[in-house]
Amino acid sequence: MKIKTTLLLFFSALVFFACQKESSENDYTINLELESFDYFEKEIPFGNLSYGLKANHDEIAALGRLLFYDSRMSQNNSVACASCHKQELGFADKGAFSTGVKNFQTSRNSMSLVNNGYQKFHFWEGHRGDISETILNPISNHIEMGMKSPAELVEKLLATTEYNKLFKEVYATDMTDSLLANALSTFVTSIISYNSKFDIGKDSEYVNFSLDEKAGKDLFFGKAQCGSCHKGNHLVASWRDQANIGLDLVYEDEGAGSGMFKIPSLRNVAITGPYMHDGRFETLAEVVNHYVNGVKDHPKLDWKLQEPIVLNDKEQEQLVEFLHTFTDYTLISDRKFSNPF
Ligand code: HEC
Ligand code: HEC
Repeated sequence: MKIKTTLLLFFSALVFFACQKESSENDYTINLELESFDYFEKEIPFGNLSYGLKANHDEIAALGRLLFYDSRMSQNNSVACASCHKQELGFADKGAFSTGVKNFQTSRNSMSLVNNGYQKFHFWEGHRGDISETILNPISNHIEMGMKSPAELVEKLLATTEYNKLFKEVYATDMTDSLLANALSTFVTSIISYNSKFDIGKDSEYVNFSLDEKAGKDLFFGKAQCGSCHKGNHLVASWRDQANIGLDLVYEDEGAGSGMFKIPSLRNVAITGPYMHDGRFETLAEVVNHYVNGVKDHPKLDWKLQEPIVLNDKEQEQLVEFLHTFTDYTLISDRKFSNPF
């Protein structure tokens, strides 16, 4: 009796694991068709992107979308860019860390990809430059996607998929690693948020804001100092790259050195939690509480945070209300950014 039960359990476990493997590799039908959308709409109000796009860029973005959602981009077909950059979460991920190939965990919090094309600094360390230069980093990161190199990925895609047909259609030449980077970064660049309550408010003297949201805005751009680092249309660093905001006295992860990290964009911040490079704060109230009560006197602490930021409880709540106006509901449901498979 006992042996029978053990055997039964053993075989059910075998069947269970076999099915799991099957479903993780084939959980969508792969239909590589370019769906056409107006990715770089005329009415986007922010002027030129920070790098030159090719003339047929809508088609290129459509190709980038397929690649972004295709888990065959990873070493064992288990992880796509979209696994850690989810549309409904402002292209970030929930959880402090994300799961890459073979269930490895990333050592940093996934970042939102919104309005990246307008930013000069990328990744938590704030690498300077255009995203097409660093966009293939996740491919050969052993934790994230686990390929040996972008060239190895090109070989794999040529041998096992129909992508080359699409590269020929779009670029009139065979796939290469730099075209792969161009297609992915064109798609990522097209993820542009300009329809949040904050955007609409800016154009209409904030008549759409509640009194608390207005008060929060005045604090953000005034005595709370936030707007001096999270700046401009994209609520991101502009001329400077990183800052130390006094999270710790001794940093386990030193970022770009001395606890300096990219000043991230706050677009969609209400849905991109948890927060900071290590996802240490669950809520925006905790973040605001850090700036008011938690800033540590690190030797490299940014000068803007050396004087305490004094906000009472009500003001802290108003600041959080204002941060919620950055959510762009059009973007997170727009089909052109969604999973094509
Ligand atoms: C396993 C999870 C994971 C996967 C898969 C992944 N990323 Fe990321 N991504 C992250 C994490 C974590 C960071 C921050 C890493 C760091 O700075 O050290 C990040 C950062 C980025 C950034 C920088 C954003 C900014 O605001 O500076 C870009 C761009 C990006 N990823 C694009 C991609 C693309 C394109 C793919 C697919 C080729 C991809 N990622 C796959 C987790 C992932
Ligand atoms: C000196 C520049 C500076 C100032 C001033 C500043 N920040 Fe930040 N902010 C940063 C940096 C740098 C990070 C990333 C730190 C890290 O992860 O180690 C950050 C991270 C954040 C995050 C987390 C974003 C994410 O995606 O994880 C939020 C939210 C935030 N700041 C809101 C605010 C608010 C609200 C204020 C005003 C009270 C403020 N910031 C003032 C530089 C600044």
